[in-house]
Amino acid sequence: MITRETIDEVKNRIDIVDVISDFIALKRAGQNYKALSPFANEKTPSFFVVPAKGIFKDFSSGKGGDAITFVMEHEGMSYVEAIRFLAQKYGVEIKEEAGAKDEDAGQRSERDSLYIVMNYAKDYYKELLFSNDEGRSIGLSYFHERGFNDRTIEKFELGYTLNSWDHFSKKAIEHGFSEDILEKSGLLIRKDDGKKYDRFRGRVIFPVHNLSGKIVAFGARILTKEKDQPKYINSPETEIYHKSNVLYGMFQAKNAIRREDFCYLVEGYTDVISLYQADIDNAVASSGTALTEEQIKLMRRFTENVTVLFDGDAAGIKAALRGIDLVLKGGLNVRIVLLPDGEDPDSFSKKMGATELKQYLREHTKDFISFKIDLYAADASRDLPAGRQDPIKKAEAIREIVNSIALIPDPIKRSVYLQETSNLLKISEAVLLTELNKILIQEKRKRDQDRQRDEPKEPVETIPDISTPEARTDTNTMVQAQEREAIRLLLNYAESHYEDQRLVDFMLTELEEVEFVNPVLREIYETFRQAAERGQIIDTLYFMEHSSEPVKRAVADLTTNRYEVSKLWGDKFHIQIPHEKEVIHEAAYSNVLRLKFRLIQKYMEDNLAQLKLATSEEDLEKYFSIHENLKNAEKELAVALGIVVAR
Ligand code: CTP
Ligand code: MN
Repeated sequence: MITRETIDEVKNRIDIVDVISDFIALKRAGQNYKALSPFANEKTPSFFVVPAKGIFKDFSSGKGGDAITFVMEHEGMSYVEAIRFLAQKYGVEIKEEAGAKDEDAGQRSERDSLYIVMNYAKDYYKELLFSNDEGRSIGLSYFHERGFNDRTIEKFELGYTLNSWDHFSKKAIEHGFSEDILEKSGLLIRKDDGKKYDRFRGRVIFPVHNLSGKIVAFGARILTKEKDQPKYINSPETEIYHKSNVLYGMFQAKNAIRREDFCYLVEGYTDVISLYQADIDNAVASSGTALTEEQIKLMRRFTENVTVLFDGDAAGIKAALRGIDLVLKGGLNVRIVLLPDGEDPDSFSKKMGATELKQYLREHTKDFISFKIDLYAADASRDLPAGRQDPIKKAEAIREIVNSIALIPDPIKRSVYLQETSNLLKISEAVLLTELNKILIQEKRKRDQDRQRDEPKEPVETIPDISTPEARTDTNTMVQAQEREAIRLLLNYAESHYEDQRLVDFMLTELEEVEFVNPVLREIYETFRQAAERGQIIDTLYFMEHSSEPVKRAVADLTTNRYEVSKLWGDKFHIQIPHEKEVIHEAAYSNVLRLKFRLIQKYMEDNLAQLKLATSEEDLEKYFSIHENLKNAEKELAVALGIVVAR
């Protein structure tokens, strides 16, 4: 059990912007920050952070809460794991309740144990590289020969594993790890016939870090030239390692990527490290396999710009073309550098040296359109006199390029690329556009067919939003929309003055008889009411501390300004729009009236339903008189609101 003091200490140190920035790139928007949602696929940002309140809200997925909630959601951690993680980040010493330690170890989740054993292995491999004779003479000298200095080796936490069947697992078991967890981590292999041995033996080790710097996997490279052995042995998929979600080097590169606002994408471990050694610290690798959608999403959290480095040979070019399309589809801007034939980033950076390499990269970075055009232009004029092109090949080239453009999700970018293609290939834009539209229409048709097969989706928001026309259907929804507005006002302006009292007092008095329909909103409202009875003032932070997840989510939702309407309109159209604070008096007054108005309509509906079921004369009379009373109240409210009500 972590002590209460530790938890409080962690909470005190938390800076939500700092915490979230470890995982995604936040852009400033006024007092607040926004970003693309890390929980959904989207093209425009709907993820908001409000530092003043210590909360985030993701309108795409409906998730929201404080920094701890974010870490839990984003990293799939439990509450305790998230506290441990944040304690480590902020250097808070974790104090455990005495006596509860063993029990806690037993309860510790398997993920936790996996992280611990992987970290233990990493430390052990590092130690061998620097302090063991075999490690130094074979492993360390190999890295030095490749030009990696000790600072680089330390940065990537490289290591070495001895050439023996069980040196690691023996040591780990001695240290108290179970065979079970060693096997689950992929470090130990257990065969059905009972044979057990270390997965990694006699190789140099490249640890793979997740975004928060924890080790999730290892790649182990062979040093000898044995033919029947694979060059790399990699960790298998485990509960903490999903290969397709990870980019090698992202942990080390993420700040540089944010700073430079682009990243280099390369193939392997040594490419990333050689570039780092050559002073290029914004490179990541897909680790030998084709890039996945998840990996593209991961990059997109830090930048929209990717420059892919490829070998200049035929295989490299093919790979480049395959890679481009996927990245375009992911909504990223793609640039390409083809290295000279036979060179990879690793070998080339060694030949060139840091300064020349940077210059080469600068001068040879091509936009994907120009890259494709050059490629096909070379192909179309091959074996022909200078200046002549094979028309069939040219047509093929155009189709290829338009196909790629069609993958770009953003229509504005598409049209810019179309223009550029038109200029470069000397083809009329209209022709290109026709071609493009053909493809887009085909794709849309395909998508529509797919959609029809899929089940309709559940809505994310549980609290109705009055701003959507669909919400204006039944009275129940209308009531909840007004409840939502009442809570929004309470959360944001409780302290504002309403004539000679505070807004919170005005609202509580006016709504005294009202029982909220929506359970989450009712809980928030009741919290306000009870606090007021205690003479306490509560705010968003109070809810973040004391409430259930659904309440936290709703509070975050209602206190986050999604649209900075007034500023935008003011700037754009020179219209003076009053800040909400200035019109809060009217807002509160009309909300109270509207909420009652909608409630009365709901009561009338309920009452009419009862009336239809009534059997006795007595009951009928009762429901009639209730209806009359409600109708009168409705009319009064309608007059106050300036609404015309049907009789
Ligand atoms: N790879 C792998 N298994 C192999 C070969 C390659 O998993 N048998 C992956 C590794 O992630 C490697 C990447 O593919 O980093 C690129 O392969 P390669 O260029 O052969 O390896 P490098 O890491 O660049 O190593 P080196 O330069 O030492 O050959
Ligand atoms: Mn290589």
